[in-house]
Amino acid sequence: MGLKVALTYNLKRKTGNTGLPDDYYSEFDSKETIEAIASGLRSGGNEVFLVEADKGLLNWFQDNKVDIVFNIAEGLNGESRESQVPAILDFLGIPYTGSGVLALSVSLNKTLTKKLFEGAGIPTPRYRLITDPAVISDDGLRYPLIAKPNSEGSGKGITMASVVRNKTELIREVERTARVYQQDTLVEEFIDGKELTVGILGNYPAAAMPILEIDFSNCKASGEFFYTWKVKEFEKEVEESRGLTPNWHCPARLSAAEAKTVKEAALKAFRAIGCVDLSRVDIMLGKDGVPYVLEVNPLPGLDPVDSNFPYIAKCAGLNYPDLMKRILEVAVERHNKNKKMALQERSLR
Ligand SMILES: Nc1ncnc2c1ncn2[C@@H]1O[C@H](COP(=O)(O)OP(=O)(O)OP(=O)(O)O)[C@@H](O)[C@H]1O
Ligand SMILES: [Mg+2]
Repeated sequence: MGLKVALTYNLKRKTGNTGLPDDYYSEFDSKETIEAIASGLRSGGNEVFLVEADKGLLNWFQDNKVDIVFNIAEGLNGESRESQVPAILDFLGIPYTGSGVLALSVSLNKTLTKKLFEGAGIPTPRYRLITDPAVISDDGLRYPLIAKPNSEGSGKGITMASVVRNKTELIREVERTARVYQQDTLVEEFIDGKELTVGILGNYPAAAMPILEIDFSNCKASGEFFYTWKVKEFEKEVEESRGLTPNWHCPARLSAAEAKTVKEAALKAFRAIGCVDLSRVDIMLGKDGVPYVLEVNPLPGLDPVDSNFPYIAKCAGLNYPDLMKRILEVAVERHNKNKKMALQERSLR
């Protein structure tokens, strides 16, 4: 496409002996991922600038002109951190790939997301938000429940102990969330069923790629029977005998009718949150046939080796470099359509 593209990211670091939780940097990206994205974009004839989304970001964009930003930055601090880079770019009038400030803020808050799902008639597990560890209500909820930090991703805070069978265990998990993650706890009914995730790409219209099923039946050695942080972190790094490598089935082992219902729910969720360009929607297909939508990830992991989204794209026939170019292309199309982007003429060809 011949564009000048800034790739904005936050770099994953090792927690080492810092006293930070092991999962502290999990949402950030490795050098390998950043390089893989840059190389994919360069293969389309684009010039790519790597820009770490730290305190120097604003200055960088004041000193350098680009056509568009390829944004994977998760942000640094606070409850709407994923919106920080898009907010700065909106402020400066620079276009970027992926969802905007509002969708990124809402989707980082699992409870707000679920309220929008309810408003749009999208099934989601029954829940309570616990804002005060001294006032814990499980009224009207059926155990087992799962307790999760309300504003995290990448499996942060999600362990086998997050699934609780009684109020004593629930109190323990709520206290842990408050202590380790300094935030509210979302408590949901734990859905026993098939774990699915749906990659969505494009805009006019947004399209669901083949559904990915994550099957934990070969994880007995570790005892991890759902997508905990440990599985997410190690699934492609340790030998299978450790039981942290679930089977991925893409397309998922579903009937045509089930696949249709799941894709419809995913697309509805994408629209309810106001996502654009790309997202990954996590769904538990209950034994009752209901696709319970857990959350929407507008900044899905793009690790070329172990992220779900590039794997799904590969199953849809898009290799990694082509996926990167496609994400850029759909964002450019959208900005052009919205007439918010004054691309130079050469870049339109
Ligand atoms: N209500 C639920 N019922 C059954 N399993 C659940 C439920 N909520 C979460 N899980 C399990 O925990 C995993 C992580 O939950 P969730 O997707 O909410 O967290 P996350 O940290 O935002 O994930 P991501 O890495 O996708 O950002 C799910 O993929 C699923 O395996
Ligand atoms: Mg998830």
